[in-house]
Amino acid sequence: MADATDTVESVVASVASAAPEIRSGLAGRRTYDDGANPSGDRQLEADVYADGLLEERLLAIESVAGYASEERDSVVVPDADGGADGNRYHVAVDPLDGSSNLKSNNAMGTVFGVYDEPLPAEGSALVASGFVLYGPITTMAVARGGTVTKSVIDGGTRRIVNPDLTLPEEPTVYGFGGRVPRWSEEFSAYVSEVESELKLRYGGAMIGDVNQVLTYGGIFGYPGLRDRPEGKLRLCFEGHPIAHVVETAGGASSNGTRSLLSLTPDRLHERTPLFVGNEAYIDRLEAALG
Ligand code: F6P
Repeated sequence: MADATDTVESVVASVASAAPEIRSGLAGRRTYDDGANPSGDRQLEADVYADGLLEERLLAIESVAGYASEERDSVVVPDADGGADGNRYHVAVDPLDGSSNLKSNNAMGTVFGVYDEPLPAEGSALVASGFVLYGPITTMAVARGGTVTKSVIDGGTRRIVNPDLTLPEEPTVYGFGGRVPRWSEEFSAYVSEVESELKLRYGGAMIGDVNQVLTYGGIFGYPGLRDRPEGKLRLCFEGHPIAHVVETAGGASSNGTRSLLSLTPDRLHERTPLFVGNEAYIDRLEAALG
């Protein structure tokens, strides 16, 4: 069996080296393609470009047995068979999270998870996860071996700026998606409490909003809605990796009832209500929704 540490480093290095290319490719790819992704979202040329680049780079890693992307119906497998002992890791990617922010020129990200089981799998099968944030600068957070590291990506170099990122103990920010009239009564009551304690920060790209929580402490969520109880975000591509990062950083995750990492999607593109942040806020959320 291929070594998880080597595979994870290869995946991290590939995503890090693709990030400046994805970023520099954004300016000329702000128009919509004809297609839609499997969740029905319209695809920008930038979504398709980032997906193609990551597919090529990640499937070139010998121990990667499958590439699952939010932009594709099903898992893509490499052309060449990596051998009986090889090809045991499976990568899930949201190539350009929050790409609707391209129109307004706000933050976006790339999210990835490395699993040791074929997808879709339970969150506990994750051996590493991470994200790139395309903000004023490009940063990358990676959770592996019980630690989250944060780096700055500058051209071809990746420089660690925080070797052990943990959620601040004193939370200060919150952000929740979905229009307020579509929230349940229980969730609205919870938000009223949170509003009196924390400061609103919502930018419309999960990675940007979760990064605020990782930086300042607090809670981010996209709840189940009255007419869409499953919420908007996808478990395999957004829920699992981001829950893994936040839990590794000392925080908690939930679908409203239990940790996102304990969930196994029936379908690759299954959606889930998603909450991540400081444990005290996740505990109170579960009590409020329960
Ligand atoms: O993946 C979908 C996404 O763009 C997330 O990054 C983000 O959290 C959410 O949708 C924003 O949704 P809305 O436009 O409803 O606020």
